[in-house]
This record gives sequence, C-alpha cells and structure tokens, in this order.
Amino acid sequence: MNIDWGNLPFGYMPTDHNVRCYNRNGEWGELEITSDEYISLHMAATCLHYGQESFEGMKAYMGKDGKIRIFRWQDNARRMQRSAEGIKLAVVPEKLFHDAIVKAVQLNKRFIPPHGTGASLYIRPLLIGSGPEVGVKPSGEYLFMVFVTPVGPYFKEGFRPMNMMVCRDFDRAAPLGTGHIKVGGNYAASLLSMEKGHEKGFASVIYLDAKEKKYIDECGPANFFGIRGNTYITPASPTILPSITNLSLQDLAKELGMEVEKRPVPLEEIAEFDEVGACGTAAVISPIKKIVDPDTGITYEYCKDGNPGPVSVKLYNKLVDIQYGDEPDPFGWIEIID
Ligand code: PLP
Ligand code: COI
Repeated sequence: MNIDWGNLPFGYMPTDHNVRCYNRNGEWGELEITSDEYISLHMAATCLHYGQESFEGMKAYMGKDGKIRIFRWQDNARRMQRSAEGIKLAVVPEKLFHDAIVKAVQLNKRFIPPHGTGASLYIRPLLIGSGPEVGVKPSGEYLFMVFVTPVGPYFKEGFRPMNMMVCRDFDRAAPLGTGHIKVGGNYAASLLSMEKGHEKGFASVIYLDAKEKKYIDECGPANFFGIRGNTYITPASPTILPSITNLSLQDLAKELGMEVEKRPVPLEEIAEFDEVGACGTAAVISPIKKIVDPDTGITYEYCKDGNPGPVSVKLYNKLVDIQYGDEPDPFGWIEIID
C-alpha cells in the first residue's frame, strides 16, 4: 500500500471492508461485514425516488501513542436518530451505531493516516429506505451501512483563509423543512448554488434565512461563526444543522474565557466582526478572508495579512489537539478504540 498521507484529498478511496445491517419488519438484523463496494438495491427503493436517506460524518484519528480515537460519536448517533425521525426512517439504536462504526474502523486500521500527517479516517454512516414502494410512503425495509475512507483537508486551501459569496437566489432549506437534520435532499438542493459560487471563484456560498433573507444561515455544508472582541457568535436558526464541531468550538471558546452568543445574526452585522469562519467535521475551521454580496455590492474583509485570525487559530489548534490526543480531553469527547 503506497498512500501519500500528506497529500490526501477529501474524497473516496476504497478500503478493505464496510459493514451493513438491515431492518426488516421493524427489526434490526445482524451486522454484516463485506468487501463489496456496491449494494444490490431494488429499483423502487424509497431512497432512490423519494430521498428517504440520511447520512453522518465523523472521523477517527491516530494518536502519537498509536491509539485510535473517535470523536463525539454519540452526538452523531443522536443526530442520525433525529434525522430518521424527521423523514420516517427506521431509527438506528445507539449501540448498533457504535458497533458499526467501531467495526468499520477496526477492519480498516491500515487506512488510518499516521499521526502528524494532518489526515484522518472519515467515517460515513448511511441509512436508506431500501424497500420498494411506488406511492409516497415510508419504506418497509431499511439498510444502515458504514464505510470509512482516509481523507485530507476538505478545501484544497486547508486551514487557509478563503473567499465566500452570499447566495440570495437559492435556499438550502425551508423554515419548517429539513435543514436541521442531515438528509440527502438538503445537499441536492445546495448543489446548483454551490456550483454557481465555485464558477465565480468562491470556495462556498453563504445561505441566508429563507423567510426574510436577512440572517446568516449556513456556509455551504458547514456552520458559520464570527468573533467579535471576546465573543464567539454563531447563528441560531431552525434551518441550520446543529454542527458537532460548532458545539465543540463553543465549549472551547468558553474555556478560553470567551462569551458565547447563539442568536440570529443579521448579515450586515458581520462588518463588525474581527474574524469569521465556517466549521464542520470535514474542514474543522475554514477561516474566511472575504465575503462578497453580489446583490448589494458590499464586500466584508478579514485576515488582511493573509493569515487566519488569532482566535480561529487558537480554537482550531485546541480542537485538533484534543482530537489527535495531543492534549487531554477534559470534555469526555474522545473514545479510544483498540
Ligand atoms: N452543516 C451542514 C449542512 C453539514 O452538512 C455539516 C456537516 O456535517 C455541518 C454543518 C457540520 O456539522 P459537524 O460539525 O457535525 O460535522
Ligand atoms: C462536514 O463534515 O463539515 C461536511 O460538511 C460534510 C460534507 C462532506 C457533507
């Protein structure tokens, strides 16, 4: 195996095994291990027609001590349960979720990037309606799967400031819709607007609240945060996916003696912020250099020296150090697995 660990993209690479479990007649079966990258799926499966599917994303990290760490998996398990309840999927019990992710990591140990490479093993749980229906109704069968794949940084820039564009002509999610849960349809709804942003040279787009187009919602597939003085500010909105990274950064900010505000954030307010960024499992923090609002002609600028702001750097390092086991974990976020 010859992997250039230091230059991994955020993409799919085949590994040795993945795990699967079916729910039939309301009962979860046994966890199955396979090396097949394909699934045999009925052409009328509800995930294919009606988007009855949910996924999760988390990472396993190799410590200096050679121990494998997984981060806050319980929060991902609970989020997948909320997603399942939101679109009538079978709910995956926490123990099954845990057994599946641990097994998937253990079976692919040789793909966990070595400590110090900045890479990690991305864990992707997936839950789909696999039974055939033609009418719009929930499936009678569900498939829960977990695969893993080694990944590098989400953005090619890595932990470098990037440019974003305000998106006013598309919404990712509706106020009483599914933005707060992690279901495939939300991502399909974001593809066109994100591609338009990429074509104009932006790393991602910033969505505003769908109702008033006044408040910041999400930053592509990531949460938004800003730093003003000694305060960490992040939007509260019913259409935002509660990011586990964001929750962790809020705790770390408090530990650093900062105030944390979670409330609606009007777009114009960011002119007063010292630092802004996007956060999520994939990128941890993506510092933002420039936010362009093509409709108003306003450009919000940060990181004028080209470097991420000092608070973002501090928060990023603290979180990553805990994840890799370079610093103690006072929050109980890490589980070490054999
Ligand atoms: N927002 C959206 C829409 C996402 O898809 C993700 C990624 O999972 C996040 C935010 C970040 O969440 P987390 O920090 O739990 O990865
Ligand atoms: C994240 O982990 O921050 C993401 O946005 C995941 C993405 C690949 C869906």
